Amino acid sequence: MVHLKSVLTFRPSAERAAPTLAERYNACRQQTEALTASLSAEDQMVQSCADASPAKWHQAHTNWFFDTFILSPHLTGYRPFDAKFRDLFNSYYNTLGAPPDKALRSTFSRPALDEVRKYRRHVDEHMRQLLKYGETSEAVLELAELGINHEQQHQELLVTDIKHAFWSNPLRPEYRSEATPTSAGPHPSPPPQKAQNYPEGLREIGADAGSFHFDNESPRHKVFVPAFRFGLRPALCGEYLAFIDDRGYERPELWLSDGWKAVQAHRWVAPLYWERNGTEWFQFTCSGLRKVEESEPVCHVSYFEADAFARWAGARLPTEFEWEIAAAPLAVEGNLLESGKFHPEASPESKADSIMPLQIFGDVWEWSASAYLPYPGFKPAAGALGEYNGKFMSGQMVLRGGSCATPRSHIRATYRNFFPPETRWQFSGIRLADDGN
Ligand SMILES: [Fe+2]
Repeated sequence: MVHLKSVLTFRPSAERAAPTLAERYNACRQQTEALTASLSAEDQMVQSCADASPAKWHQAHTNWFFDTFILSPHLTGYRPFDAKFRDLFNSYYNTLGAPPDKALRSTFSRPALDEVRKYRRHVDEHMRQLLKYGETSEAVLELAELGINHEQQHQELLVTDIKHAFWSNPLRPEYRSEATPTSAGPHPSPPPQKAQNYPEGLREIGADAGSFHFDNESPRHKVFVPAFRFGLRPALCGEYLAFIDDRGYERPELWLSDGWKAVQAHRWVAPLYWERNGTEWFQFTCSGLRKVEESEPVCHVSYFEADAFARWAGARLPTEFEWEIAAAPLAVEGNLLESGKFHPEASPESKADSIMPLQIFGDVWEWSASAYLPYPGFKPAAGALGEYNGKFMSGQMVLRGGSCATPRSHIRATYRNFFPPETRWQFSGIRLADDGN
């Protein structure tokens, strides 16, 4: 029996009744099918960089999660589809045995895609059986909730990984030709950046026990946050172009030491997926190559680039606490996965008297200035699921807010994503802040 209380927490309620969870399970699984429907079996084998995994592997691994953590231990009489998959599709749970090297995932030509789809149907059939009856224990419902959220995380990765795969292919195929690029019409100039003042104070940070959250969002605790100003929209491509034109990538004084090393080592001159043709910049999107639009939030930048840009702009990145204070009163809405755009949308100009930050949720993950660390009192769960988040609290930075590839029901103000500071293949962008002086 896996103890999950520190992996996730949520309050029993009518909304959490098994039929509702079953419906959400079905919707989640259908979302994965929809995201892969346009991909050939060959597309689904590509692993074009060390960060990415093949689309077929994402489908098998998310299925493995339900198979391993829920059905095998909790459904009486359950027989796994193939016992060998228990090791093959393990990602990083060392407690369960030695997972295959991540770099080898593109060599898993067997099981074939059809077999993986049968594996998913096998798990679907038994998950529906498990969730159908009201006798299912609270612990099992919590595990199913975690399994759904886990699959949603992989849905975003599936999109970013196939984008990288298609960019790596000289044919530059489109993932979603129906995702209408915003360049189809005339574009306004970037709206001016405005900022909102927030007073100093002792603030509550983190998720409370009343709703689903990952263990890394808790315990909710108090943090003293000095006064700060927070940008009302993300940094835009037009502003980033000015940073490039001002020799931003050639001026060591703008960069952290490791950032400057990364610029040299990787020969960065622009965000990932940008390329210059003559005097114009183009970017590869999920809908193919198109012009960089000045009014869109810049994305596919590393933490190092976000930090250097902020320094160049006379500002800094917000801490994750500042970000959460600004986001807490706002509704979760915006350009998320369900919009089907798979690209950040042009920023609207805030109304003259508005003090509400725009594009907080969706569009681009926003790098914070905060290292990914445990909140006071954090304790990973016992057993394999304790490896879900806690063991990654080293050498990574927190990102907030979700992106155009994040499922809507997956994101919230307290959500902490995390990646190493060189990471660029996610839809990662920039929000500026300063001390208000
Ligand atoms: Fe996973």
